[in-house]
Parts: sequence; structure tokens; C-alpha cells
Amino acid sequence: MPGTLEKLFRPSSIAVVGASRNPSKIGHLVLRNILSGGFEGRVYPVNPSAEQVLGLRSYPSLSSTPGGVDVAVVCVPAITVLDVVEDAGEAGVEFLVVLSSGFKEVGNMDLERELVVRARKHGMRVLGPNVFGYVYTPSKLNASFGPSEVLPGKVAFITQSGALGIALMGYSVVEGVGVSSVVSVGNKADIDDADLLEFFEEDQSTSAVLAYIEGVENGRRFVEAASSFSARKPLIVLKAGRTEAGARAAASHTGSLSSGPALWEGVLKQVGALQVKDVEAAFDYARLFSAYSSVAGLSTLVLTNGGGAGVQAADILAENGIYLGEPPRDYVEKLRTFLPSFASTRNPVDLTGGATEELYYLALKHALDHPEVDSVLVLYCETKVADPLQTAEAILRALEDSEAEKPVVAGLLGGEGSRRAVKRLAERGVPAYPTPERAARALAALHRYAWLRSMLEKRRVQAQPQLALLHE
Ligand code: ACO
Repeated sequence: MPGTLEKLFRPSSIAVVGASRNPSKIGHLVLRNILSGGFEGRVYPVNPSAEQVLGLRSYPSLSSTPGGVDVAVVCVPAITVLDVVEDAGEAGVEFLVVLSSGFKEVGNMDLERELVVRARKHGMRVLGPNVFGYVYTPSKLNASFGPSEVLPGKVAFITQSGALGIALMGYSVVEGVGVSSVVSVGNKADIDDADLLEFFEEDQSTSAVLAYIEGVENGRRFVEAASSFSARKPLIVLKAGRTEAGARAAASHTGSLSSGPALWEGVLKQVGALQVKDVEAAFDYARLFSAYSSVAGLSTLVLTNGGGAGVQAADILAENGIYLGEPPRDYVEKLRTFLPSFASTRNPVDLTGGATEELYYLALKHALDHPEVDSVLVLYCETKVADPLQTAEAILRALEDSEAEKPVVAGLLGGEGSRRAVKRLAERGVPAYPTPERAARALAALHRYAWLRSMLEKRRVQAQPQLALLHE
């Protein structure tokens, strides 16, 4: 049942059914998050046993609330959810977000089917059941029982794992990767990955999607929506259940059927998604695609003060099909004016262990200004010569002073100071990582996406005459 999810993400009013007076209960926590998040629409607690919850007047039912409800977040035991659906239908609710567990994931197929049948009868869409809620930062909406603190940004997370989603929300704050949205999809009885990809493809506030998927019900729709999405924005997929053991675990977690790993691998390639195997890589890519989604060409320059870091990065880039060519001759001439004679001006450019912050600034600024350089990987190994935070500042200054808009990815290896420098860069929108390998892999992902996108575009152009023939 496709249709716009606009009102789910930009509601004028939201109700919490089962808004408990007990501060440790889920319904209470969801209401608290909605209020503390700063949502500007109307908010209604629904609880027949309460007069007030968190200072708001409580209503005995959805149909008794004044002014209509766009979204009802349902936090009552599964056994009473069907009654809530009828009440919601009467109240003209458009979206039900069902947090309650106790449906397909524990074998209650009929109850889940009935939930969707009844919701559809009233023209409602269902997110869930068995979810922790959702977040949409452009609406300042945190309708979840996850952390209250959410860092606004441009990546949307779609997650079939509640716990992982909640953990990712916390991680995103610590790591400085902001989110436009976090959506827990749980059992995906109705709204699924395809619906959400369609929404985020058009959503101006979202530049990339990171999806944790255990399985999908409607493969064809997923392929269509994911291909269309990937042609416009990067889609990072963390596919769980890649092995027999993982697939069995997924079946008992959200009741998902997780088809064979080989099939999934093929599907993800076909749709142009970037597949990652762990949370760390997923976040590394998310950080990268928060900043950039395209690169003009394959000409990458690596700047480093440590030969070993440069070699590691060169290996990873080569394994991903990116071979480092010689730097442009006039760029080398510029380098020669400020580098010591023993510095290597090949690619990677070895600024030497004696490189200062100023040297980083100059090497990067000239690289950014050079028309034959498409992207720069800046590597730093902590020394006493160049302070890590000051080096981060030098990188930021070079970016500010150059008019060129080229991807710059940084890898800063070292202790506490280097960690702080990584964070500082991340906060200022420069994808930075604590190792050269992770930085190189992230840059390689950007190139891979550029290639995937061009393949999708080629396929689209080739398919057009065939489609025209079909319509004749
Ligand atoms: N309408 C409105 N309010 C109601 C109704 C109703 N029909 N029925 C009960 N209430 C009130 C109750 O009086 C109570 O309020 P009070 O505490 O002020 O008296 C409140 O709603 C909550 O009802 P409880 O019966 O106390 O339910 P409880 O909060 O214990 O549990 C819950 C409800 C959280 C939905 C539970 O059944 C559940 O499913 N928990 C698991 C949730 C979960 O983990 N989801 C998935 C996470 S993501 C993942 O892992 C994939």
C-alpha cells in the first residue's frame, strides 16, 4: 500500500496511547522524549486511568482528543492493540506506530495480520509492531524510547533491530555523525524499507540512508525502491543474517525471512547499494556520505607525515581499484619550495616526520587548488612537531581558504589528542577517522558510489528505448 509518509514525519499532532504515569514505563519515556525534543505540534497523552501525564491533560481515548491526531504511538500490551486501532480509526488517525511486542516475532501471525487489515480498513498505515519508535530531526520529533539527545544531521537510519538502533543513536552523538532520522521498522507488517526509501529519496533533509536489514517481505518492491534511491543518494546496507546461524537468529528476532547470503549479495550489487559487514564500517560510511556524495574523478592525492600510513592507505585504495598516479608536475614544483629535500614528492606525498601544521596547510591548499587533483586523503601520525588539534585546524583552514569543493578525508593516528582532532574535524563536517585504513576505506567507498551511480544511470538510459518499445 504505497503512499506518502509526509504526515508521519511532519505531523501537526501526535498522541501517545499508554502514556504511563510511571516514569520507568515505555509510554512515559516516549512522551518525555517528544516533549523534551522540542516538537512544535500538538501532543496528547492517552491514558484512561490518568488525569495528567507530564503536566499535560490526559485523554481516555484517541477519539476524545480535540482537533484530530495525525500519528498515534501505541505503547499498550499487544492484547489491547486491536481496540486501539478501532479507536484510532474513529479519531481519523493517519499513522499508527506500534511499539508493542508480542506479534509475528513470537508466532502471533494472526494478530499481526488483523492489525494491518483493520488499520487499512480505516485508511491508516502502520509502522511496526515491535519497534522502539522513530526520530525525525527536521520536525524536532523524537517519538522513541531511545536516548533523548539526538544530533541533527543528514543521514537517515532504517533499522530492523531496536537495540542496535538505540545504540546507534548514542554512537551518533559521540562520533559526531548527525542524523535526519532514525526509524525502527521492527516486524515491518506494513511500512517497510521500500516505503521509507521512497520518502527519503525525495526528502531534502536526508543525503544518505544507512539501513540495517534482516530480511524483506516484498523483494521486487525493495529492488525497485533501492535502485531508484541509489541512483540519487548513497544507500549503505548492513545486511544481517549473512550465514545460516545469523539467518536463524534473525527469524526469532523480528520473524524475518532472510534469504540466502549469495542472493542478497547479488541483490545489493544490482540495486547499487554499498554493503558493509559491521557497525564500524556502517558508521564510517555514514560519516563520509554526510559530507560528500560525489567525486569528479579518480585522481586522488595522499598527504602523510608517516611513510607506513601512506603505504597502508595505498594498499587499501589499490584493493578497491584506485591506483595512485604521480602528482601533477607543477604541484610537485610547489611542494619543492617548502618541503625538505629528502621528502618524497611521489604519491603518497611524504611530508616527513618533521612536518609542521603549516606544512600540512600548504600541501593541502595547493592540492585543493590544483585542477588535476580530484580528492585528497590527509594522513597524520601524532608527533611533537605537529600538534594534532592544530593540524586539524590547518586542514580546516586550507578547506576554508580554497574555493575548490573537493572531497577531503582525514586519518589521524595517535593518542587522546588525535582522537580530539578527529572529533573536531567531524564536528566541522570533514570525514575523519582514527586510522589511515579506515580513512582510505571511506574514500574508496565514495569512489565506489560514484561508479555505482554511473552504472545505474547507464542502465536507466539503456532501458529507456526498450521501455518505449514496450509502450508502442
Ligand atoms: N489506552 C490507553 N492507555 C492504556 C490502555 C489503553 N487501551 N490500556 C492501558 N493503558 C495505560 C495503563 O494504565 C498504563 O498507564 P499507568 O502506568 O499510568 O497506569 C499504561 O497505559 C501502560 O500500560 P501497561 O499495561 O502498564 O503496559 P506496560 O507499559 O507495562 O507495557 C508495552 C506496554 C511497553 C507496550 C509492552 O507490552 C511491550 O510490548 N514491551 C516491549 C516493547 C519493545 O521492546 N518493543 C520493541 C523494541 S524494538 C525491537 O527490539 C525490535
